[in-house]
Amino acid sequence: MAAAEPVDLSVADLHPALGDPALTSMNFLNEVSERYPAAVSLAAGRPYEEFFDLTAVHRHLDTFHRHLVDDLGHRPEQARRLLLQYGRTKGIVHHLIARNLAVDEGITVDPEDVVVTVGCQEAMFLVLRALRAGPTDVLLAVAPTYVGLTGAARLVDLPVWPVAGGPAGVDLADLAAQVRRARAAGLRPRACYLMPDFANPSGVSIDTAHRRRLLDLAVQEDLLLLEDNPYGLFHSDDGPRPPTLKALDTERRVVYLGSFAKTVLPGARVGYVVADQRVAGPDGRVGPLADQLAMIKSMVTVNTSPIAQAVIGGRLLENGCSLVAANTRERSAYTRNLRHLVAGLTRRFPALPDQPDQSALPDRPAVRWTVPAGGFFVVVTVPFPVDDALLDRSARDYGVLWTPMAHFYDDTAPVHALRLSVSAVTPEQIDVGLDRLAALITDELTRRAG
Ligand SMILES: Cc1ncc(COP(=O)(O)O)c(C=O)c1O
Repeated sequence: MAAAEPVDLSVADLHPALGDPALTSMNFLNEVSERYPAAVSLAAGRPYEEFFDLTAVHRHLDTFHRHLVDDLGHRPEQARRLLLQYGRTKGIVHHLIARNLAVDEGITVDPEDVVVTVGCQEAMFLVLRALRAGPTDVLLAVAPTYVGLTGAARLVDLPVWPVAGGPAGVDLADLAAQVRRARAAGLRPRACYLMPDFANPSGVSIDTAHRRRLLDLAVQEDLLLLEDNPYGLFHSDDGPRPPTLKALDTERRVVYLGSFAKTVLPGARVGYVVADQRVAGPDGRVGPLADQLAMIKSMVTVNTSPIAQAVIGGRLLENGCSLVAANTRERSAYTRNLRHLVAGLTRRFPALPDQPDQSALPDRPAVRWTVPAGGFFVVVTVPFPVDDALLDRSARDYGVLWTPMAHFYDDTAPVHALRLSVSAVTPEQIDVGLDRLAALITDELTRRAG
């Protein structure tokens, strides 16, 4: 018998978030894909790797270095220090981020209201840490929601209350009801987190009129909105994109969370937060919420790697600070893949098209899917619960990976849906993955019918 492994600590004596499904979810999904490396992955929400270019990274670094010297007038030793030494907590590409938001989103931002973070994930953590002031604070989040948000909330002991998403992206009646219910229970809803553009995982977007109504409600209910926007640039049609909530925000209700993971490089691990809310300090001095977030950041990551920031800064500079311009190839690849996936689902489930009345036909079990206007994700609804055991079987016996939608709900109720991602695959891989998924679904339906 193997000797028992020595144990020094129990997870029960560590922070209660450890062991919580919100924190173990990403590890579990990574483990499954590592265990079945030959499986086609329609699970990963990673950007398409074929566009990664190591030589471009060197060029971006040089471009940003030249910008420091030529445009900002830094002496060579100053520029070297800025890139290689410990640095400003709020970051060194904040002015370029402000320019990018002006160029691509029509948002006017004071660079001093920007904190450059280690990915958007750190930005979420900083905001939640700041907002969680006491045990009666709660966070509202449109469900289903990004698991990274739920995990970050757990780590700062901030309960997450789900708000119905629905076809409009956020159910405003439910949002108002949840705010009032929380307040009636003596709780303080600090903010509502949502992704207005091609949400992860639902793929749903909020239209402009509804965005305006949401902002009105936020003012009426004295609520902050945390707008997370990693996928907004990847719209499939050629029409205008709806304005971000932040672009419509005249009352400083919106804290805007940005990520360069999908628009530049995930490996740089750079994101940011725009937090222009005015905060009164104990001495009566007023400054942006960004300064408070920077204070927290100084105790978490000190500052975001200036080398990584320089790579992002260089890419911005080389594209006139437009990520729209920098991502034309990426947008068309994701659009092509999204259309290919939706067409592939329609072909593979011809008797079960995306028609609401099909579900009423008893001999035709409803397999349905969303048809998002952009982003990375399609949600497939099936007439049986989709759990981790089914994913494991899918990977082992059918060679295809996807994400159970249950991972995006903060409860244990069974969920009859799975998320497919089109971002890290080719059309050929989509075909293979869908053939395998169709086989799994058909077998599962047959097994359950028999
Ligand atoms: C909705 C959402 N927010 C935030 C992130 C994390 O972004 P980052 O890689 O910049 O930390 C992701 C990553 O997939 C995401 O889907």
